[in-house]
Amino acid sequence: MTRLTNLLRHISRHAPNMALPAATLRTGARMPLLGLGTGPGSVGTWQTSTEPIYEAVKVAIDTGYRHIDNAESYAEEQAVGRALQEKVGSVVERKDIFITSKLWNTRHHPDDVLPACQRSLTDLGLDYLDLYLMHFPVAWTRGDVYYPKDENGRAVLATPDVPFMDTWKSMEKLVDAGLVKAIGVSNFNISQMEEVLTNGRIKPAVNQVESHPYLVCSKLLKCAADNNVIITAFSPLGRPGEESLHGVSPLKDPKVVSIAEKHKKTPAQVCLRWQVQRGVVVVPKSTSPARILENSQIFDFQLSTEDMETISGLNKDARIVKFGMCDDHPQWPFNGEF
Ligand SMILES: NC(=O)c1ccc[n+]([C@@H]2O[C@H](COP(=O)([O-])OP(=O)(O)OC[C@H]3O[C@@H](n4cnc5c(N)ncnc54)[C@H](OP(=O)(O)O)[C@@H]3O)[C@@H](O)[C@H]2O)c1
Repeated sequence: MTRLTNLLRHISRHAPNMALPAATLRTGARMPLLGLGTGPGSVGTWQTSTEPIYEAVKVAIDTGYRHIDNAESYAEEQAVGRALQEKVGSVVERKDIFITSKLWNTRHHPDDVLPACQRSLTDLGLDYLDLYLMHFPVAWTRGDVYYPKDENGRAVLATPDVPFMDTWKSMEKLVDAGLVKAIGVSNFNISQMEEVLTNGRIKPAVNQVESHPYLVCSKLLKCAADNNVIITAFSPLGRPGEESLHGVSPLKDPKVVSIAEKHKKTPAQVCLRWQVQRGVVVVPKSTSPARILENSQIFDFQLSTEDMETISGLNKDARIVKFGMCDDHPQWPFNGEF
């Protein structure tokens, strides 16, 4: 038996009593500041096997994670559901774990929202979600092809278009029906988030956006704080394996490395700590038990004000996830401010 396995077993025995720091949603619910990401990475890199995610979710729960980030479009909800079935009721009670899923771009038609949510619930083996997010503010053509494309590789948009507020109204009904405890948005820029805040009967609890030291999103954070919206950072490590940021990884940034050395932590832990210390929820993805553990060890040190400012100063507005296949849509978010 390896030292890591022993360590995980030890942590597992104590994990059920660990209360990880959490953000308080406008609903009053507590959303752990650390969650496990379960997305596949870039478009077209879906794993041929969902076993790594099934194993990762089990390891994460044993390690003390109490928040799992999913989406229908990750095509991994059944694997996550199998892992939850093994752990919920034994290692953790359902009420003590926070489960998020997301409504995909091909499900924006108001009639498709309820069936999509029900499918996610069935696949996850749950009778409610803690949080359901509109994955992206642009509607694509209805159907089961996740990335409907025309001959030029462009996303086939919904015809007629479905304004995101129409989709939102159907999401509000999921709260009324008790299928989801809270609703929110993802990849919404400031003005899109403000539109939902202004016109929604139920206000968004969360906006999940890409954020890491090269995409700081300080204006969005300010607007969110002013309006009681919690921000979740996706790709919080800058998706290092993929080198999407033109070969530059925040984990290799000399300033991040130097701060990590000072605190005897890893660059990944520093990137995650910087986010949670400014009130941002993080959902790093890993299928490696060692890195799942590493990413959870961010609540036992404090970055100084100077460290925080140094990291925020690395901003380059560099974005990995661009959904460029629909960048001609008027609601494509990345022309606006974040
Ligand atoms: N709302 C949206 O539109 C959206 C878009 C993208 C992602 N997301 C969510 O955000 C989650 C995370 O984003 P992401 O997967 O794009 O990026 P990420 O979490 O920044 O990076 C994941 C990559 O980092 C590696 N990694 C994990 N921990 C590490 C560590 N401590 N040191 C070095 N490398 C490490 C992982 O490899 P190993 O597995 O080998 O450790 C994996 O390749 C997704 O899983 C998904 O849940 C949401």
